[in-house]
Amino acid sequence: MIKIFPDAQSLNQFAAETFIEIAAEAIKERGKFTVALAGGSTPKSLYQLITTAEFRSQIDWSKVFFFFGDERNVLPDAEESNLRMARENLLKSLQIAEDQIFRWQTELEDADKIAADYEKKIKTFFNLKEYEFPRFDLILLGIGDDGHTASLFPFTEALGETKKVAVANRVEKLCAMRLTFTFATINNASNVIFLARGAAKGDVLREVLRGDAQPEKYPAQKVKLKNGRLLWLIDEKAANNLK
Ligand code: 6PG
Repeated sequence: MIKIFPDAQSLNQFAAETFIEIAAEAIKERGKFTVALAGGSTPKSLYQLITTAEFRSQIDWSKVFFFFGDERNVLPDAEESNLRMARENLLKSLQIAEDQIFRWQTELEDADKIAADYEKKIKTFFNLKEYEFPRFDLILLGIGDDGHTASLFPFTEALGETKKVAVANRVEKLCAMRLTFTFATINNASNVIFLARGAAKGDVLREVLRGDAQPEKYPAQKVKLKNGRLLWLIDEKAANNLK
């Protein structure tokens, strides 16, 4: 489902309400809420809103477990770390205990080792057997103007991964290794919310949502939940080519 909002404030308000609804339901049903956060800049203001009294008071945060849908291959305190962004805008303010934060261990030198370590952490937490996938209550995603989501970039190897939960992914255009959930993990979630704001996303959203199926070129098209709810929260500037 696609919901279009006049501005960032109304989009974030709805997103925060939905986040809390999903969290409350998960905690009520299963005693915990598992969420994978998105990186980049779009979610920052949403994270800040969730820490305000209106929202933070609605959840027992000791029952919330935070993961990261992707990470840059940098140390935790690096400027471009998604973990750092989440800590600064959400986790510190909510005083989330370290054992409720499952981060990519980027201090390990080798990207494949980091991904294998993260996969092991996730499989242990979700008590998974070989080739089983975690079912996150919620995965937040952004979308790049090239159609990537998480760190699943166009024409990269990770797009085709069907066995692993988390991988290292070589991104030539960035001359960097990135760390990311696979689509197999994303598509197993109960809820996925895409957040997209700003005119710069207008063209790619038209291609992803209205264009022909070109999933290698526009990887966000590969997000198709097996048994879950997919929500696109978009502001009017980003939706200008959808009408
Ligand atoms: C990352 C994100 C990435 C992001 C998009 C959009 O690590 O950067 O996970 O997938 O969501 O690049 O980024 P913006 O929100 O900054 O436009």
